[in-house]
Amino acid sequence: MSVTNTTHYSISDQEFSQFRELLYTESGINLSEHKKTLLVSRLTKRLRKLELKSFSEYYNYVVNGVNGGEEFVRMLDLLSTNKTDFFREPKHFDFLADHIMPELSSTKKIRIWSSACSSGEEPYSIAITLCEAMGSEKWDCKILASDLSTRVLAHAANGIYDKARVAGLDATRLHRYFLKGKKGDKVKAKKEISEMIIFKRINLMNDDYPIKTPLDLIFCRNVMIYFDKQTQERLVNNFYRYLKPNGYLFIGHSESLQWLETPFIPIAPTIYQKKEDDVH
Ligand SMILES: C[S@@+](CC[C@H](N)C(=O)[O-])C[C@H]1O[C@@H](n2cnc3c(N)ncnc32)[C@H](O)[C@@H]1O
Repeated sequence: MSVTNTTHYSISDQEFSQFRELLYTESGINLSEHKKTLLVSRLTKRLRKLELKSFSEYYNYVVNGVNGGEEFVRMLDLLSTNKTDFFREPKHFDFLADHIMPELSSTKKIRIWSSACSSGEEPYSIAITLCEAMGSEKWDCKILASDLSTRVLAHAANGIYDKARVAGLDATRLHRYFLKGKKGDKVKAKKEISEMIIFKRINLMNDDYPIKTPLDLIFCRNVMIYFDKQTQERLVNNFYRYLKPNGYLFIGHSESLQWLETPFIPIAPTIYQKKEDDVH
């Protein structure tokens, strides 16, 4: 069989289970049993490109990690969504500026983790929020931005975006925090915001994160939705350990901690707090 750009593939139940298991153990993503067609349609182009004859061959290619696990990341990007936006779910940024910053005004120090940052729109929006809330004051601000996908993380770290990606930002912010590219079709985050951010690859499935300083705030938005309840519970309780007393957790608007066993206290929709008098 020779592979062409019209080759069709089918997947057996056994092959599908292998992919599901791999995805689950490596990323926590719980691909439901009905997603067989989705998996085939999302990966077909990749199999053709690699001139592989079957899903079994592709599975071996992914797990044998010829290029240091890079193929797993490619597969992850094809199967999951990296969808994000500047100031997505804007109430979180308002809460940061209006509640969290004033609470920390005596120390003027803030540590934030954007834990599934995708291509970086979330951490840059956090940085802009901090700049605006600080005004002329000098604060010690650090944002850790991480993701499992090295591809999106590289995009985040270079901070360059198509004009269309920043179309929703108001003109003042755009001008203040981004440089225009020569051709006018791209913008680049200015140092003022990019210098606050450190980018790192972190898999949320590892229970120990490379973070030494207790955090004031963790953003974990629009990723838990792919995890099963057990994984969500483990993750959220890990976050609890990494927060300072009175620290906050923000989750996505379609996510909830309601059914999870966790000491977090709900403060506002999708905003949770580790209360100071809690002994955990
Ligand atoms: C939909 S994006 C969310 C981006 C951003 N937080 C937002 O709400 O706009 C989900 C991100 O989660 C990342 N992801 C999936 N599994 C992960 C894991 N186990 N550890 C870290 N990141 C993961 C994906 O690579 C993707 O970039």
